[in-house]
Amino acid sequence: MAFHVHTEEQRELIDLVRKFGESEIRPHAADWDKRGECPLNVIRAGLEMGLQCLDQPEEYGGAGLGTKTACMVFEELAKSDAGVTCAFSVTGTAAVPVMKYGTEEQKQLCADILFRKGGLGSFCLTEPGSGSDSGASRMTAVRQGDSYVLNGTKCFITNGGYAELYFVIASTDRSKGNKGLSGFLVTRDTPGLTVGKEEDKCGFRTSNTVELVFEDVVVPASCRVGREGDGFKQAMAALDHGRPYIGAVALGVGQRALEEAIAYSKVRSQFGQPICNNQAIRFMLADMEMRLESARCLVYHAAELIDQHLPVTMNGSIAKCCATDAAMQVALDAVQILGGYGYMREYPVEKLMRDAKIFQIVEGTNQIQRVVISGQLLK
Ligand code: CAA
Repeated sequence: MAFHVHTEEQRELIDLVRKFGESEIRPHAADWDKRGECPLNVIRAGLEMGLQCLDQPEEYGGAGLGTKTACMVFEELAKSDAGVTCAFSVTGTAAVPVMKYGTEEQKQLCADILFRKGGLGSFCLTEPGSGSDSGASRMTAVRQGDSYVLNGTKCFITNGGYAELYFVIASTDRSKGNKGLSGFLVTRDTPGLTVGKEEDKCGFRTSNTVELVFEDVVVPASCRVGREGDGFKQAMAALDHGRPYIGAVALGVGQRALEEAIAYSKVRSQFGQPICNNQAIRFMLADMEMRLESARCLVYHAAELIDQHLPVTMNGSIAKCCATDAAMQVALDAVQILGGYGYMREYPVEKLMRDAKIFQIVEGTNQIQRVVISGQLLK
């Protein structure tokens, strides 16, 4: 990442985050992973550092450092643990539609809960029957006077069990498909909102992933973001922003896997010499670096487009797809280089392999990224 770090401020921030990751997260990550524990205390410490709002404007309590810097921080932190890092990145993603399309009052509410007070946020789009086809959401929001009544179930919601603020997509007019979807801000204490099943995942186990059940949840009409029917576009805009974040987190996982493989290949001797003397291993390491460095350029390019307020839909998807595929392959290769030890829980690379897999799925599968990219090409 060193080449992409340009300012002293970025260097200092990344050093700070590296120390935080290496002292507070890395030594415990394997235990948390084994127990499927989301380490809330450490996440709270990161929220106090403002890791969820590095690219939010200063006047709203953010650090105003831009999305490229936020991505660098996520990459660095994900070298210690991807699940913990996503608590911050997903809070950032959940805030995007509000900060982009919300009223001043809604922005202040979001800033107060998520940025100034350091709460977690959740982006609630996915439902049991609508994952890739997010326009097919079945959750309803029925207008009653000055309120809406929300009913339905969201699933696979990151941070869902601990979030203070939820950005929720629901249908205000089922006859209109994705044009009938609207976005709502729902606070944690709202009656009728309950946290359902917590998922037991093969990887990404330090991230809290839950089902959320909305039963006659009444929210004031002032909590609707934008106009009725604008929800799908708001959700897509959030994903445009969130996909470079996910790419950055995946890069961190891949980079850690590469570093573990390099270190091991220097100390593991077979046939009387370190295995890194074998061309087969050297070429694997070179391929791993090439995959990561090329994906890194794409992730930071997409983040720069966001910082320059330029369209990012296509580049965000390219970055997410390439970086997550790179991380997966690099983690697999790291396990291969460590051989039998790589497959054992005693070494960190099998966790990286399990963690890497989620990023080819979350925030749009890599097949959906190709739908987005080809859609943009043919527009
Ligand atoms: N920004 C703004 N508007 C957009 C947009 C964008 N990026 N993408 C599409 N739109 C608009 C289109 O312009 C179109 O508007 P008009 O009809 O007015 O022209 C409208 O939205 C519909 O667009 P499409 O016809 O392209 O929509 P579609 O139904 O074919 O779906 C899709 C497109 C790309 C498949 C989309 O549904 C998608 O991205 N699906 C994947 C969803 C996803 O990533 N889910 C993960 C959820 S979050 C998560 O992972 C968990 C977590 O906790 C973080």
